[in-house]
Amino acid sequence: MRIGMLTGGGDCPGLNAVIRAVTKSLIRQCGAEVIGIEDGFLGLIERRVRPLGWDEVSGILATGGTILGTSNTASPFAWRGRDVSAEVVAYQRELGLDALVTIGGDGTMTMAARLGEVGGVPMVGVPKTIDNDIAGCERSFGFDTAVATVTEALERVETTGQSHGRVMIVETMGRYAGWIALEAGLAGGADVILLPEMDYDVPTIAATCRRREERQRYTIICIGEGAKQSGDRQTVQAHVPGSPDPVRLGGVGHVLREQLQPYLNSEVRTTVLGHVQRGGDPTPYDRVLATRYGHKAAQLVLAGQFGQMVALQNGQIGSVPIAQVANTQRTVP
Ligand code: F6P
Repeated sequence: MRIGMLTGGGDCPGLNAVIRAVTKSLIRQCGAEVIGIEDGFLGLIERRVRPLGWDEVSGILATGGTILGTSNTASPFAWRGRDVSAEVVAYQRELGLDALVTIGGDGTMTMAARLGEVGGVPMVGVPKTIDNDIAGCERSFGFDTAVATVTEALERVETTGQSHGRVMIVETMGRYAGWIALEAGLAGGADVILLPEMDYDVPTIAATCRRREERQRYTIICIGEGAKQSGDRQTVQAHVPGSPDPVRLGGVGHVLREQLQPYLNSEVRTTVLGHVQRGGDPTPYDRVLATRYGHKAAQLVLAGQFGQMVALQNGQIGSVPIAQVANTQRTVP
């Protein structure tokens, strides 16, 4: 067997643990050859691959990022204004691939499945996002690491906020789902938690800050990047033509600072955490979860169960059809 593997979309702590587990399981269980595709679909478009053997994936369990590289703008169906899917399919055949393990978000997995439908090799998906918002899957690897990073940031911001008697706003990632802000906000003892799922009301937040001004002197606010005041639009940092996510979010923490300051005596300050949340080594929980996902993906390939995404459901590793989860998000209820 020859199995291709790629990581697509934004990176996430634990990708290397998945790559390692898929490779070692396939080699040990059936002596498969594993081909690593560089930079997501870009590697299939630009014909950049390399073999992944036991040695190539040793020592990467605990490392952040992805040894294969990733891209979140390369689509075989719209590459520099052209549909190059036929060339990509021909390249998959030329490589002699039997299947493709696709580690990515909803968009990446759907793209791989679509390639299969137009003559490409069948695929198995491994869900990836720090946002933890993939439908049909109660926990994606990388989320625990992101929550740990944000929790630590909230604690650090708290001591300085306390010293200066300030309102400290910490902005987290989380495009449409507020899981990171919610869980880190709870774990880090934030006084106000604002999510994309629930529009906020400035006077209500200001009232909380004023109450705390009188007693504790400081307030910690944890806000997901996708949150907004009712009636407003999400805060867009940049437009990204050609990307599956056409807008880059970020900056709502600054917007909220401007909105809140007129109501308060104490100074309001904002920290936008950004990619700090996606970088660094995965937590032990994420290393284990990613390893379980990688092993399961290899089992699906060996069993010929294609078009499936591995998923954690009720604490058990199983799988769901990609078609069932495409274009849906698991948001905070
Ligand atoms: O989807 C994961 C995520 O981290 C989002 O929370 C965030 O909006 C986005 O990726 C940022 O992606 P990029 O690194 O491409 O700006």
